Amino acid sequence: MPDPARRACRRCVVTGATSGLGRSTARLLAQRGDRVAVTGRRAARLEEVAGELRDAGAADVLALPGGVEDPAIVAAHHAAIRERWGGLDLAILNAGVGGSDDPRAFRAAAYRETFAVNFFGVCHWLDRVVPDMVAARGGVIAAVSSPGGWRGFPGVGPYSASKAALSTMLESIRIDLRGSGVKIIDVCPGYVKSEMTAGRDPKRMPFLMETDEGAARLLRGIDRGRRLVHFPRRLTWPLRLIAAGLPGWFFDPLAARYGRP
Ligand SMILES: NC(=O)c1ccc[n+]([C@@H]2O[C@H](COP(=O)([O-])OP(=O)(O)OC[C@H]3O[C@@H](n4cnc5c(N)ncnc54)[C@H](OP(=O)(O)O)[C@@H]3O)[C@@H](O)[C@H]2O)c1
Repeated sequence: MPDPARRACRRCVVTGATSGLGRSTARLLAQRGDRVAVTGRRAARLEEVAGELRDAGAADVLALPGGVEDPAIVAAHHAAIRERWGGLDLAILNAGVGGSDDPRAFRAAAYRETFAVNFFGVCHWLDRVVPDMVAARGGVIAAVSSPGGWRGFPGVGPYSASKAALSTMLESIRIDLRGSGVKIIDVCPGYVKSEMTAGRDPKRMPFLMETDEGAARLLRGIDRGRRLVHFPRRLTWPLRLIAAGLPGWFFDPLAARYGRP
C-alpha cells in the first residue's frame, strides 16, 4: 500500500491535462493534496483546469501552457517546476494525439507529426526529468502509451507505430535505470471517453470507460508500482495474447475486419 504521508507531499506533473485522461488524473492528484503542474497547448483551458485543481485541494498548482513537441518549451516548463518545488516525484507523460490517415495514401508527414508528440514529446520530458530523479535517487515516471502499439493496426499506422516506439523505449530505459531508484511505468489504457475518442462509433470501442474511471485505474496501477499498467483486463489480456501469439496470416484479415477505428 502506498504511504499516504509520502503521497501527500508529492510533486507531480501531468502533460496533456487540458482534457480527457490527463485532466481527470490531475484532478485525482489534487484531491490527494499533491502539488500538481499541468501542461497543454490551450492556455485558457489550462487556466480553467488549474482553477479546478485548486478547488479540488491541490497543495499548489502550476499551469504551464505549451506543446511537448518543442524541447525549449519543455525545458522552460521543467525549469519553472524546479524553481518552485525543487524537483519532481511523479511525472505522468500523457500528452498524445490520435488520428487516422487515408490507408491507401502513405504520408511520411503524418508519421513525423504523430511521433513529434507521442514519442519525442515524452523524450523531451525524459531528457529533463531522468537526470534529476537519478541524482535524487528516486521518482516515478509513467508514460501513457496504448494497446494500439502492441500490433500494427490498420488505418492508424502513425499512432500504432508511435506507441510501439514509446513502449519499446520505456522498456529499454526501465532496464537501464534498474537500481537507480527511478521507476519507469508504461501505461496502456483501453478505450476511454475523451476528445480523442469523441465522435467514434462506440460499437467499435469495446468496454469503453468513463474518463474518471480510466484515470482512477491509471493512478492505481502507478501506486502499485506495476511496470506495465493495462486495463480493462477483459480487453487488454486478449489483446496481449493476440499481440504475442497470432501469426500474420491470422492477424491481418482479423485486424482488417475488426481493428479499424
Ligand atoms: N482515449 C483512449 O481511448 C486512449 C486509449 C489508449 C491510450 N490513450 C492515450 O491517452 C493519452 C490521453 O489521451 P485522451 O484520450 O485523454 O485524449 P484527449 O482528450 O485528446 O487529450 C489529449 C491531451 O494531450 C494534449 N496534447 C495534444 N497534443 C499536445 C502537444 N503537442 N503538446 C502538449 N499537449 C498536447 C491535449 O491538450 P492541448 O490540445 O491543449 O495541447 C490534451 O490535453 C494519449 O497519449 C492517448 O494516446 C487514449
